[in-house]
Amino acid sequence: MSSLLTPDDPAYPGQAHYTRSFLRIYDPLVLGFFGKVVWRCPTQRLIDHYSQFIGERHLDVGPGTGYFLEAAPMGAAITLLDPNPDVLAHCAARLSDMQPTLVQGDVTQTLPIDGPFDSVALNYVIHCLPSSSDHKSAAVANAASVLTEDGVLFGATVLGTPSLHTWLSARALKANNRRGIFDNLADDAEMLSALLDRHFMQHTIEVVGSVAVFSAHLPKTA
Ligand SMILES: C[S@@+](CC[C@H](N)C(=O)[O-])C[C@H]1O[C@@H](n2cnc3c(N)ncnc32)[C@H](O)[C@@H]1O
Repeated sequence: MSSLLTPDDPAYPGQAHYTRSFLRIYDPLVLGFFGKVVWRCPTQRLIDHYSQFIGERHLDVGPGTGYFLEAAPMGAAITLLDPNPDVLAHCAARLSDMQPTLVQGDVTQTLPIDGPFDSVALNYVIHCLPSSSDHKSAAVANAASVLTEDGVLFGATVLGTPSLHTWLSARALKANNRRGIFDNLADDAEMLSALLDRHFMQHTIEVVGSVAVFSAHLPKTA
């Protein structure tokens, strides 16, 4: 499988860093060290969030290493969507017991799948998406469009709000934005709330450290 996005695509930088070698160290580095020490949102909090909301027919957008699908009780039918072929290959091997359906796709574009799904996860993905041209809103709209009418979108995203950051996390935030891994300096809880409100009848947001942990119900497209 070759790369879906080319370097001139605004969504390219947010998925390009997940190489085979980076995926090997992702769990201890990002979910271990960064989650707990830098963003101050313990990964166990996000495992609990997955366990609470994952449904029978589940779509995981931007699955990374597949860590949360292994850690949380799983749905019966798992679909993984990511533009990055290394991510899909890594997850296919790790989650082979679940026989996930693999879809190469960009969540900011019309999805190459119909669903319907009982749940969609966008975990640690929104902060990777381009701020420009409403890409983040398109991602939420596209997730909403493949849910059942009582389906749920859930996940977490690092916010850019300066008051939520420590000396250490502010430096990590700036470095990640400089390198294109994140594009979230303008993301705050109000922006996320407006985004979810545009596409869902109900939503919740809890800010833990510098991370917004969210769920959204009753898609307006249903
Ligand atoms: C920070 S990782 C999060 C991985 C996993 N969800 C987790 O919480 O550990 C971001 C993931 O989003 C994917 N991603 C980035 N841009 C994307 C896009 N436009 N559409 C779909 N997935 C994207 C990356 O390839 C990667 O798998």
